[in-house]
Amino acid sequence: MPQGLPLYPESASTVAGQVDALYWTWVAIAAFFSLLIAGAIFTFFIRYQRRRVGEVGHEDEGNLALEIVWSAIPLVIALAMFGWGAKVFFTQSRPPADATEYFATGKQWMWKIQHPTGKREINNLHVPVGRPIKLTMISEDVIHSFYVPAFRVKADVLPGRYTTIWFEATKPGEYHLFCAEYCGTEHSLMGGTVTVMEQDEYEAWLAQEVVPGGGEAVSGERLFAALACDTCHRTGARARGPDLTGVYGSRVELADGSTVVADEGYLRESILTPTAKVVRGFQPLMPTFQGQVTEDQLLQLIQHIKSLRSEGEEIPGARAEGAAAATGGGAP
Ligand code: CUA
Repeated sequence: MPQGLPLYPESASTVAGQVDALYWTWVAIAAFFSLLIAGAIFTFFIRYQRRRVGEVGHEDEGNLALEIVWSAIPLVIALAMFGWGAKVFFTQSRPPADATEYFATGKQWMWKIQHPTGKREINNLHVPVGRPIKLTMISEDVIHSFYVPAFRVKADVLPGRYTTIWFEATKPGEYHLFCAEYCGTEHSLMGGTVTVMEQDEYEAWLAQEVVPGGGEAVSGERLFAALACDTCHRTGARARGPDLTGVYGSRVELADGSTVVADEGYLRESILTPTAKVVRGFQPLMPTFQGQVTEDQLLQLIQHIKSLRSEGEEIPGARAEGAAAATGGGAP
């Protein structure tokens, strides 16, 4: 691949090579047919021009075989391009089950990142090399788009809905991070750096500053207590809401008889709009927390709810991912 071209982004992730191969093949196909058609126009223009005044053109009745050939060949090429493109798209949009989850919140005009350990940074993302990283993203205001050209990944970041992106960096270095959706006057400044480090360097970096209050799940736990969630979500006779142990990734039965998988989107909706999906056997008593918690805090609460599981229980993230992939879900 032409890494030396001016403005051509470096390729530094596992999917970058696949995206480039696809891109350059399509450029080659487009260039080949453009030249072929332009050449044919030019040749026919010279060859079949009128040479004498009053010359009458030869009328052609058409050629069925030729028409079938020039329809069938582009059809096969277009279907092959679609199939190949779809394959790369699915690779790009389905995070591997063992991906480490990070969070990103977009707001006018910055990116706020939260590491699995609870460490936070702004307009910077430090990640270890050779590890699949999944980013769960949401916006606090308008639509933004998380774009790292060197990784060939880009996804819109929406208000009110989680979207995900994943990548596995292949070489240490610093790469540009951009917002790729016009989001206001300082859109062009809404960017930063993704720093890819060797595993041990990354761990050293993580250990550099002590995060106040420990990991994210811990601050989520404090928030859970501060908002008095635990006064209702508990076991025993005084439980007015469902016990949340092991709820993440499970199938929840609702009052109307339907079921729903408790993913991030469901947990977020249940905090902001508790009456939307009431769990079977419970009254719709829970007040809304709309306007009382920020998107960052919602992510912390969700992280805490994910961490609530019985002793020895397996993290259901892998199972949920696998199921999503099998049913064709998981794509944005
Ligand atoms: Cu955020 Cu453009």
